[in-house]
Parts: sequence; C-alpha cells; structure tokens
Amino acid sequence: MYPDQNSKSAALYRRALEVLPGGNSRTAAFKDPYPIYAVRGDGAYYWDADGNRLFDMINNQSSLVHGHSHPRIVEAVKSQVEKLTSVCAPTELEIDLAEELCRRVRSIERVSFCNSGSEAVLFAIRAARAFTGRDGIAKVEGCYHGNLDSVEISVFPKPAVWGPDDAPASVGEGLGIPARALEDTLVLPFNRVDAARALIEENASRLACILVDPAPPRMGFMEATDDFLHMLRETATRHGILLIFDEVFAFRQSYHGAQGRRGVDADLTAMGKLIGGGLPIGATAGRADVLACFDPRGGAKAGHAGTFNAHPLSMAAGSAALSMLTPQSFAHLDALGERTRNGLRAALSDAGLPGVVNGVGSLFSMIIGSETKVSNIRDIAFALSTPRADGRTPLALAQDFGRRMINMGVIFAAPSLYILSTAMTDAHIDEFLAKARQALRDLAAA
Ligand SMILES: Cc1ncc(COP(=O)(O)O)c(C=O)c1O
Repeated sequence: MYPDQNSKSAALYRRALEVLPGGNSRTAAFKDPYPIYAVRGDGAYYWDADGNRLFDMINNQSSLVHGHSHPRIVEAVKSQVEKLTSVCAPTELEIDLAEELCRRVRSIERVSFCNSGSEAVLFAIRAARAFTGRDGIAKVEGCYHGNLDSVEISVFPKPAVWGPDDAPASVGEGLGIPARALEDTLVLPFNRVDAARALIEENASRLACILVDPAPPRMGFMEATDDFLHMLRETATRHGILLIFDEVFAFRQSYHGAQGRRGVDADLTAMGKLIGGGLPIGATAGRADVLACFDPRGGAKAGHAGTFNAHPLSMAAGSAALSMLTPQSFAHLDALGERTRNGLRAALSDAGLPGVVNGVGSLFSMIIGSETKVSNIRDIAFALSTPRADGRTPLALAQDFGRRMINMGVIFAAPSLYILSTAMTDAHIDEFLAKARQALRDLAAA
C-alpha cells in the first residue's frame, strides 16, 4: 500500500533527506509523503524498491516512447558502451541522428546537439539573439520550456500576480529569477490571437524570438489553435522575429513532429526527450543561416560548448529509438490515445463525475470533478482549486485518484497527465480503464 512508512521507498527517502535538499534532485520525481523509488523497468512497467509493479503512464515525461529497456535500444547502448563512451571528438553517430531529424521535419536544415531540453531552448534563444541582435523574447503563458531563467516565467502563475487576461504579467516561477530576465521576457496570452498579436507588435523592435509549445504539458496538452500558430508565424516573419517551436514533448505528435501535423514551419526547433531513446539529450535545430552562429570555422559567433554534447550513448540510443518510430507506430500511439481518452470520458460519466479529458495523440490529461470549460492556464488553475459542493477541490480529487491508482499498480504524472508508449497494447489500456472506472466510482462514493 502507498503510503507505507515501513516500505523500502519510505526508508530510502529518509536516507535521501540527509544528503539531498528535501531528499530530491528533480522536482517532478517528488511525491508526497515520499517518492516511490524505482529499481528496474521492462516495456510498459517498472518495479519499485518494494517489488511492486507499476504500469508506467509517465514514461519519464515522454522520453521513453518505446517504454522501458526496449531490447533494440539496450543492444545499441551496450554495443556502443563497449566501443566508446565519451570522447572529445565528433562521431558518425551524431551525423546519423541529425540526418534523421532533417529527414523528418521540413524546417530543419541543421541540428546542434546538447544534453537536455532546457539546453536546447537556451541555445535556440542564443541563436535567435545572435541572429537578430535583439535581447527580448516572447513566450506564452502556461508554457514550460525548461529551467532557464529567461523562460521559467509565467508557467503556472498565481492569480494575485498574473495580471490582465490580455496582457499577462511576467512572473518568475519561484525565487531566484532575476528582474532582468522578467524584463526581457514578454508573456503572451495563450490562444488569444488579437491580444497576442498586439503585444508582439508593440514590442517587435526588441524581440529576438517567440517561443511556443503547440500542446503545452502544463495546460494538459491542450492544443494551440491553428489561428494562433499561424498568427505567430505571420507576425514573426513580418517583424524579423524568429519563431521557435518547443518540440521537446510535441515532437511525439507525428512522424514529422508537431510542425508537420500543424502545417507551420518554425525557424528553430528545440528538441529533447524521446530523440535520445531514454538517455539525456537536447537538440537545437532549424534554419542553416540562423544556426550558422555556432559554426566554429573561423571562430564561432556564439558559444555552443558542452563536455557531453552529442554524447555517443545518447546518439546511439536516439537513432535506435527513431528507427522504430515509424508512421505505423504513430498510428498505434494515436489509436491507444483515442481509446484511453474515450474510455476515461466514459468512466467519468459512469461514476457520475463531471470532468475534462484533453490532449493529442499519446499525450493527454484529465481534470476530475470540474464543470469548468478550460481554455488556458488560468482556467485550469481555477478549475483545479474551486471546491465542489462536497468541499473537495478537483486537485484534491486528482491526488486521491492518483493514490488509488498507485495502489492498483498504475502510475501517471501529477496531478493527472498521461503519456503512452509503443510498448502498450489495447489489452493494457483496457486493464487500465477497468481500474480507472473502479477508482473513479470509489472516489465519487468517498
Ligand atoms: C516542453 C518542454 N520543453 C523543455 C523541457 C526541458 O527539458 P529537460 O527537462 O530535458 O531540460 C521540458 C521538460 O519537461 C518540456 O516539457
């Protein structure tokens, strides 16, 4: 049972508290009252320190698109680790992976590898600044782009400080974000075409780039509208601002990434997660003329250093993962996603609970117990925190549901994000839905 203070996970957490701040190195891996320590994974499951098997609907926040320890990825990493782990020299492996990304996404002419999605965003912003000679950036409220000062802004702001609906304030996520970063970052309202266009136009002369995620995880993978994306593309072009798509998550949307699915070409694309086959990776990709700032011939105009950039193990694992990520596997992921979304909607109605199930392809979210229609991060904050007639908030319901599901052997990302893998089958999903139906019924009755 979770939580259980006599479990091995609880004991490990007590040890961790002595050496790590709050026992933690990664916020998303924390769980109250203690995180569940993982030991090994296989396909759609991982096992915790107490020997419990968990159906993994987090898939390391999307990196494990083929689930845990896929034999072909394991083999690629094993054979590479025996040959060469890391080296201060390029390898053919990075050319292979870059060629594959260029083949898949029309707007990608050059690729530069680093080690995380955050770094990919950092280098994309740096390239945009180098190319345009401007410092300012625009980002969309409710979009997370990693842990850089200039983008850890207005991701999940509080109502007291978030400012007007049509001109959001630039709000640091927690302490430690310098005032200068807040000044340089303009925040756009999600899917508000006219308001966002007006803000960009007012600030155009200082903006190097506009950064957008076409289906932001913090907003439950709610999609940016076609009108919004096309407005960003058109306004950016008109003002010489670069459009950056964050496809760290969204590359999962189709064989040609989110851009292929949405029919909008970015100038630059930040990538990460699944393109490393489960190993650390980031990639800044896009127009050759923009990425030329990192060209070292004759002295690079902008720095692109990194001891582990284009790490041979990540390159090998990434190529193996992409070689198995075919149009057929996307069709499989989409079908699983549709089956799960429909099943969850039916399970909510079966339990007599209102709710919202949102998302795209193999990525989706559920808000339990709210009638509120959500169309941006503000609506989500409101929906999650507004108490129902029985006094419980949808956030409390989500936490309760998460705990019930863990005790039935299923884990998803808090409060309620679901990320599928190609290791899953219809049978897995049906088993998950049967458990979700039961848990929602119990939740409604509690
Ligand atoms: C959309 C998006 N961009 C960037 C990042 C940062 O990637 P990383 O955690 O690899 O630094 C994340 C991480 O979750 C993300 O979801």
